Amino acid sequence: MTAVVELAGVSIVRGDARLLDNIDWSVDEADRWVVIGPNGAGKTTMLQILAAQMHPTTGVVGLLDEVLGAVDVFELRPRIGLTSAALADRLPRSERVADVVVSASYAVLGRWREEYDELDHQRAKELLTELGIGHLSDRTFGTLSEGERKRVQIARALMTDPELMLLDEPAAGLDLTGREHLVRSLSRIATAEGAPAMVLVTHHVEEIPPGFTHALLLKQGRIVSAGPITEALTAQTLSETFDIPLALDHIDGRYTARAL
Ligand SMILES: Nc1ncnc2c1ncn2[C@@H]1O[C@H](COP(=O)(O)OP(=O)(O)OP(=O)(O)O)[C@@H](O)[C@H]1O
Ligand SMILES: [Mg+2]
Repeated sequence: MTAVVELAGVSIVRGDARLLDNIDWSVDEADRWVVIGPNGAGKTTMLQILAAQMHPTTGVVGLLDEVLGAVDVFELRPRIGLTSAALADRLPRSERVADVVVSASYAVLGRWREEYDELDHQRAKELLTELGIGHLSDRTFGTLSEGERKRVQIARALMTDPELMLLDEPAAGLDLTGREHLVRSLSRIATAEGAPAMVLVTHHVEEIPPGFTHALLLKQGRIVSAGPITEALTAQTLSETFDIPLALDHIDGRYTARAL
């Protein structure tokens, strides 16, 4: 068992606000974590630390056997896959979908090299197929729907074979079919052999892909509960996190929540 993330006493302070408050947390390479919490809880802030995009105000961040602050982040970042709405906005809309994915292997946003290895193209095609959008390979990125773009972005993030995969609200804005397709794809990816450690941020327990093993519930920068999903995610912890009495059901590997 190897830890890919190791946070010790991590806080992020901006002005008077403690965005994250004394977080201790570790993610093992075999773990698939879901991070749940209300708006403003600090979820995206946490992912930015895990993506080596932000340094803690206090505390120690271990990432992939390196310590943030003592390592060149430009060497660390290619080992980490990140998908978020902010990153999706930066992808070139006029580019072919297959190229958006394949160009990730050069860690650039946009296609700058004319020659890619045949293997890279094969891998991109496989990933797009895995995510159920193989038929869109030749379309331009800008012509895709929101949900299709999200899946392209996930394929792109997986293209570099990251050791840690971070997903910030991948299902936000999707319709029911889109969400269900995405949840199924993520479930397959999460349970595949050789898959990276994963951390998925969401507001909705309905979006937790089967196969995710751990949950961290975050509220106002603090951990409400964290651990194996069946212990950490309960009606009680979820109610405390969202400040409302909730019932939680777990049926066929999927979760649903509703107010009492
Ligand atoms: N530079 C900053 N200065 C002060 N407050 C900030 C700064 N950046 C973010 N915040 C605040 O930190 C809190 C946590 O933000 P963050 O984006 O991590 O929340 P989140 O859990 O991802 O929320 P959401 O579910 O809405 O995406 C928010 O209240 C936000 O307004
Ligand atoms: Mg956020």
